[in-house]
Amino acid sequence: MILASINHKGGTGKTIIAQNLAVCYAHAGAKVCIIDADPSQNSMRWFDARGDREPRIPVFSNSSHRTIRRTIEDLYSNEDYDTIIIDSPPTLERIAEEIIKVSHLVLIPITPTGGNDIWSTEQIAEEIESISKEKNQVIPSYFIINRLQPKLKVHQMFTAALEEHSKAYDIGILKSRLNLRTVVGKANLYGEGVYENNDKKATTEMVNLANEVQAIFEKL
Ligand SMILES: Nc1ncnc2c1ncn2[C@@H]1O[C@H](COP(=O)(O)OP(=O)(O)OP(=O)(O)O)[C@@H](O)[C@H]1O
Ligand SMILES: [Mg+2]
Repeated sequence: MILASINHKGGTGKTIIAQNLAVCYAHAGAKVCIIDADPSQNSMRWFDARGDREPRIPVFSNSSHRTIRRTIEDLYSNEDYDTIIIDSPPTLERIAEEIIKVSHLVLIPITPTGGNDIWSTEQIAEEIESISKEKNQVIPSYFIINRLQPKLKVHQMFTAALEEHSKAYDIGILKSRLNLRTVVGKANLYGEGVYENNDKKATTEMVNLANEVQAIFEKL
């Protein structure tokens, strides 16, 4: 399965989600790699921080719209990797189009901070819609609500507003949500995922997310 973690809005959790899904799938025995398509190279740095830790999760850097699709298709068709997760840059340039085109599933992390988070997804939703039309095939796409604080009234209101908003597009909202948790940043700093950090709640959330995504893929 080829997954895009993408949103042209910055700081929504694209990198954290790519890394944590990779860790969950790798521990479940999948042959996983990450493609770091962001010139800021956060996932490459995470790979360095990970060092010799098992399971090994290779991270390949490719932020070129000319070659990224070919690189990913080759890695996937040679059966070197059965799970490829793309950590995308915060942009809607050509690279985003190529990432959406090569992916089986598009995951759009979104933070529940305010209206701007919702409104700024309109462009990526339109981009996905236009690529789907071009391919004559709907590209399965889902929002992932990240950094949620479920007791905050504004976050509850946000979730309701996103549900309304997503009806206008062919984009679902994953049932699995990720709460704001300090262990997320700690794991990231040491080249790990929350799965590797003895935090039961955070691990359960992440495993639920990984399972939900896998189940959607298997039904495609
Ligand atoms: N669920 C979470 N709980 C706590 N902190 C989080 C969570 N998700 C992300 N963060 C933190 O939020 C910040 C932004 O996350 P991340 O780098 O994954 O976003 P991004 O979308 O990849 O950003 P960019 O657009 O710059 O590439 C990071 O400091 C990360 O550690
Ligand atoms: Mg990032």
